[in-house]
Amino acid sequence: MTTKPTVLVTRKLPDAVEDRLKRDYEVRLNPDDALYSPDELVDLAEGADAILPCHTEHFSGDVVQRLPDNVKIVANFSVGVDHCDLEALGKRGIIVTNTPDVLSDATAEIAILLMLGAARRASEGERMMRDGSWRNWSPSFMVGSAITRKRLGIIGMGRVGQIVAKRARGFEMEIHYCNRNRLPEANEQEAVYHNSIESLLPVSDILSLNCPSTPETVSLLSAERIALLPDRAIIINTARGALVDENALMDALKSGKLASAGLDVYRTEPGGNHDISALPNTFLLPHIGSATMETRNAMGFRALDNLDAYFAGKEPKDRVA
Ligand code: DGY
Repeated sequence: MTTKPTVLVTRKLPDAVEDRLKRDYEVRLNPDDALYSPDELVDLAEGADAILPCHTEHFSGDVVQRLPDNVKIVANFSVGVDHCDLEALGKRGIIVTNTPDVLSDATAEIAILLMLGAARRASEGERMMRDGSWRNWSPSFMVGSAITRKRLGIIGMGRVGQIVAKRARGFEMEIHYCNRNRLPEANEQEAVYHNSIESLLPVSDILSLNCPSTPETVSLLSAERIALLPDRAIIINTARGALVDENALMDALKSGKLASAGLDVYRTEPGGNHDISALPNTFLLPHIGSATMETRNAMGFRALDNLDAYFAGKEPKDRVA
């Protein structure tokens, strides 16, 4: 009888995913869903062939150095891999995979929700209904802006960006995008390509960030770039908090340069930025872009497909390092 590989699973995963893990692997689960410290992560990895983490576990250069030699693959339960020092993992010969595709629809849904919520002042209205402070109605009460037929700028026209564009077309929005490479015409669907962020910003009434966080994209949305947006523009971020200079964002929200922002991601997570939360013209969610049961299952199965491939001696489909 061959022994099954051992997998360290860092967070509580959906039952169906854990059932498959238990069937196919020796598995170290985390039923209490405790957040492991870097030291605990390193200790728990002792004797494990694989780690199946989320973006909540940080594989910094230091952690990677200290991982025991038995760890051969980090099969992420996430599409983003900015929590992983890929170079350090590569140097240790540890394979890294992610879970693309399966969360694109769910994340695009949240982008549209944020767009509507930010444009139509949903947070302010909802709070008023809950705290009983709705006292008045008049033509000037709670006036927001439409998203219908506005210009939507998308930075990062990958899987999520393309679905955001597709959903936004339902609101007759005019799509502009900036991406490393121009899309083939069939995928572009009449979206207007910009070869620089500087050219995209002035035509973006609403700007949606859909690119990964990499050393090149950190603080991509700076004060200088916000200044290039049309006055009263709206920022939507479902990608990563690190893309945005949060101080510059707050200044622009306070000055009225930006009408509002809809954010699902923050530089500090969990917790977010309490100064941003204090601003009324924000519509905020706690990093739930992929939080549907359908998507969580699909992410787990995709991570498992990558592990299965690796342990069958094949190249995992979603290898990123
Ligand atoms: C992802 O998959 O990157 C999501 O942000 C959740 O981790």
